[in-house]
Amino acid sequence: MVETFERNGYLISTDPAKFDLDAIHAYLVRAYWCEGIPRKTMERAIANSLCFALFHGKTQIGFARVVTDSATFAYLCDVYVLEDHRGKGLGKWLMKCLMGHPALQGLRRFSLATRDAQGLYRQFGFRELSKPDSKMEILRPDIYR
Ligand SMILES: CC(C)(COP(=O)(O)OP(=O)(O)OC[C@H]1O[C@@H](n2cnc3c(N)ncnc32)[C@H](O)[C@@H]1OP(=O)(O)O)[C@@H](O)C(=O)NCCC(=O)NCCS
Repeated sequence: MVETFERNGYLISTDPAKFDLDAIHAYLVRAYWCEGIPRKTMERAIANSLCFALFHGKTQIGFARVVTDSATFAYLCDVYVLEDHRGKGLGKWLMKCLMGHPALQGLRRFSLATRDAQGLYRQFGFRELSKPDSKMEILRPDIYR
């Protein structure tokens, strides 16, 4: 089900038909967490995720992507607001809309990774790992180089 939220000339939509893939790729290809990501890889990730696109008028200026089974687990990633629109509460609004989405209720675990935005996510209930030693991963930071 497509969700739409509006506020002061800004709009958030989960409708993939509205997503501006050029704009999303222009940002993500230089983002610190996925620098160099190929356009096709990004498109496949978006097609298989629950995504939230943020627009100012008709221009896409932000994004967030949630990988989820819509029942037990979710992973939040690719969150950004373009530089010109930062510091106006849009990131928090994006998070508020996302956290209220029907597919993301009652999850046992909701994870994310961030270099420096802990203060944003803490406001929405995220906490540092309670048992870091129990988490494992396969990480290939150079895969898009
Ligand atoms: C993080 C980001 C999405 C926030 O968007 P924004 O619209 O500027 O954020 P808001 O105006 O809603 O405010 C963000 C809140 O989080 C806090 N915060 C904590 N760490 C932050 C950080 N690294 N960057 C931005 N805000 C941060 C701010 O202080 C603010 O809280 P406050 O209003 O209670 O003081 C935006 O700065 C961005 O795109 N940054 C670059 C990409 C990025 O780092 N994404 C997150 C990857 S995990």
